[in-house]
Amino acid sequence: MYLFGGSGHCKVIIDVIKNNNNSYEITSIIDENPILDKIFGINIVREIKFNDDDVLFIAIGNNKIRKKISSKYSNLNYPVLIHSNAIIGINVSIAHGTVIMAGAIVNPDTRIGKQCIVNTSAVIEHDNVIEDFVHISPNAALAGNVNVGEGTQIGIGACVIQGVKIGKWCTIGAGSVVLKDVPDYAVVVGNPGKIIKYNQEHE
Ligand SMILES: CC(C)(COP(=O)(O)OP(=O)(O)OC[C@H]1O[C@@H](n2cnc3c(N)ncnc32)[C@H](O)[C@@H]1OP(=O)(O)O)[C@@H](O)C(=O)NCCC(=O)NCCS
Repeated sequence: MYLFGGSGHCKVIIDVIKNNNNSYEITSIIDENPILDKIFGINIVREIKFNDDDVLFIAIGNNKIRKKISSKYSNLNYPVLIHSNAIIGINVSIAHGTVIMAGAIVNPDTRIGKQCIVNTSAVIEHDNVIEDFVHISPNAALAGNVNVGEGTQIGIGACVIQGVKIGKWCTIGAGSVVLKDVPDYAVVVGNPGKIIKYNQEHE
């Protein structure tokens, strides 16, 4: 397996893989930063010529960049990574390229799209729909029947009450409390959460 991106997020991805009895052998990490050399003894290379049957995991926290890289290498195989200390409920579906980190809980009948990050100790309650390229940051909590649109980041420690629909490419600030629906591209902060601006549309 190859990892794309050599940041701190990559260290946590390696930790998830090692935690699962080294479920994949990591051949190398691809990162264009010339000052990076190794992470945990794994070589970092600047670029690689992939074969169609190669397995890749994109270890990049930024949702737009993750989407761009996955489009560029759409022919490769992307596994789902789940830490053994995550709890996954009945009838949960998780699409390829998504990672569920330590302590996270995903409750029944929730659907999680491709290339998402469910970060450390995040809680996603029952009947949620999480679209592709979403990042649920550490300790964020989504109550039941929440929808999160493509590319949105729910910030660290944020809470979303039941039944709320959050649009695509939104940012929910750290510690915010979201009580009502959020339109596409909105940046919401505070308790109660209020829109302070809009992200630029994703091309
Ligand atoms: C919401 C966020 C994206 C805004 O960042 P930004 O665009 O750089 O905005 P600024 O820092 O200029 O803040 C704009 C205003 O919102 C306020 N604000 C920013 N984040 C806030 C938050 N989380 N809660 C409450 N207020 C916040 C600022 O105090 C500032 O208020 P002011 O205009 O009265 O001074 C960022 O603060 C944030 O919370 N990011 C989430 C980070 C995260 O969860 N990381 C986890 C990684 S795993």
